[in-house]
Amino acid sequence: MVLHIRNQMEAFKGFLVLLFVSTLATTSPAFAAHIFPSGRENYGGDVKTATFRSPAFTLAPGEVQNTFYFGSSFVKGHIGIKAFDAEVVDEDGNSVPLNEVYLHHWIVFNYLNTSVSSSNGMLSWTILGNNGVCPGYVLCQLFGLGSETRLTSTWLPGPYAIEVGQYDNEAWLLNVHAIDTRGTVDPLGCLECRCDLYNITVGEDGRPIKDGYKGGLLCCYDGVHCQLKDGYVGESRTYYLQYTVHYLDWSDSILPVKIYIFDSTYEGSGCKVEFDVSSCSSQNVSTSECTLMQESVMEVPIGGDVIYGVSHQHAGGIGGAIYGQDGREICTSIPLYGNGTEVGNEAGYIVGMTTCYPEPGSVQVMSGESIRLLSNYSRSISHTGVMGLSYIAVYPHSEAGTL
Ligand SMILES: *[C@@H]1O[C@H](CO)[C@@H](O)[C@H](O)[C@H]1NC(C)=O
Ligand SMILES: *[C@@H]1O[C@H](CO)[C@@H](O)[C@H](O)[C@H]1NC(C)=O
Ligand SMILES: *[C@@H]1O[C@H](CO)[C@@H](O)[C@H](O)[C@H]1NC(C)=O
Ligand SMILES: *[C@@H]1O[C@H](CO)[C@@H](O)[C@H](O)[C@H]1NC(C)=O
Ligand SMILES: *[C@@H]1O[C@H](CO)[C@@H](O)[C@H](O)[C@H]1NC(C)=O
Repeated sequence: MVLHIRNQMEAFKGFLVLLFVSTLATTSPAFAAHIFPSGRENYGGDVKTATFRSPAFTLAPGEVQNTFYFGSSFVKGHIGIKAFDAEVVDEDGNSVPLNEVYLHHWIVFNYLNTSVSSSNGMLSWTILGNNGVCPGYVLCQLFGLGSETRLTSTWLPGPYAIEVGQYDNEAWLLNVHAIDTRGTVDPLGCLECRCDLYNITVGEDGRPIKDGYKGGLLCCYDGVHCQLKDGYVGESRTYYLQYTVHYLDWSDSILPVKIYIFDSTYEGSGCKVEFDVSSCSSQNVSTSECTLMQESVMEVPIGGDVIYGVSHQHAGGIGGAIYGQDGREICTSIPLYGNGTEVGNEAGYIVGMTTCYPEPGSVQVMSGESIRLLSNYSRSISHTGVMGLSYIAVYPHSEAGTL
């Protein structure tokens, strides 16, 4: 698909709101949970790292940032990406806690810039990104996470990596959606993009928000403000998304994986990405009535060995899983909640997701196989604009077969 767009920063937003999204996470009894105990692994060997920053963005208390950075800095040349880490930092490079700046999501993907220089501000592009599975370039990112960024491993083990940088005109898009919740009346409501807290009745495109839409990205666009406590005054601050690419220079010994993102809101016509959770009537939250199980079935385009898996959930999430057509478990991913104040352990926030690292060859998906995805949320309180995704890296090979 080639898009011809007049003004990069503006016209893309409506379209990209759909692509946006963070991603992923997972664990199961069969596979070791893989959460970084603290800090980052030393990947060692020939793995190189390169750290970049997004352009600076400034937020006042309560303010939302949602920017698409086209042509973002990235490693040049043909490489295999082994891992991709990101976090919000301040001007001094210090990590910023989620209870000050909530990282709603960041996503990153590559595209071919097919513009000719005479195109006068028009960007003509072809999205490369991942290998599926939502229709219409929704959730097309190679990497993307949200509040769980700091403790969720994106590492691809062994000889596996994501192959990028094969084209001279390949470029990178970084989308950062962050919410400054300092001084807000209801931080959870703000980070769930509740329309009433933002006093939003008209969307970014100028059209009225439809009745019954209580919260989600449509009420949380760039530059809007969440309600502050009476009399709260705080200075604006400058932040960056700092991201680190762990990679290998490309060689024939690297085995390239395909990336698939399954969405628990998929319904034949498309992926809705976000959904709401209503609170249960029972005071006894241990009853099944008090768990929402959001479910969908999606097909694997090209099968192979599952190398890595992870789910993505928002606060309230209690676990996600994917199952093969015969009911076998492929990956279960459980959120880790913070219970302190320090960066990476912010109370009430999902600070990490467990991941799946099946022994390569031990877990396969087949071409055309129907995958059942579920994402469980606690209904002890209501939520708006939550997500339930599952991300897997698959090494395709002919023995994986077709259904
Ligand atoms: C795309 O390529 C054109 C022509 O080389 C260049 O002028 C432009 O800055 C590039 N834009 C992006 C967003 O990659
Ligand atoms: C909410 O928005 C309406 C118009 O959209 C405006 O009249 C009103 O003053 C706003 N309320 C607050 C508290 O900002
Ligand atoms: C909640 O429900 C569970 C299972 O139905 C039951 O065992 C438990 O006693 C109930 N707790 C309360 C406080 O009602
Ligand atoms: C999701 O909830 C269902 C129903 O309570 C339960 O059977 C299943 O094990 C849960 N799965 C995960 C991954 O939380
Ligand atoms: C947070 O949880 C950990 C692990 O369960 C526990 O060891 C620690 O004491 C808790 N900290 C606080 C401040 O509750």
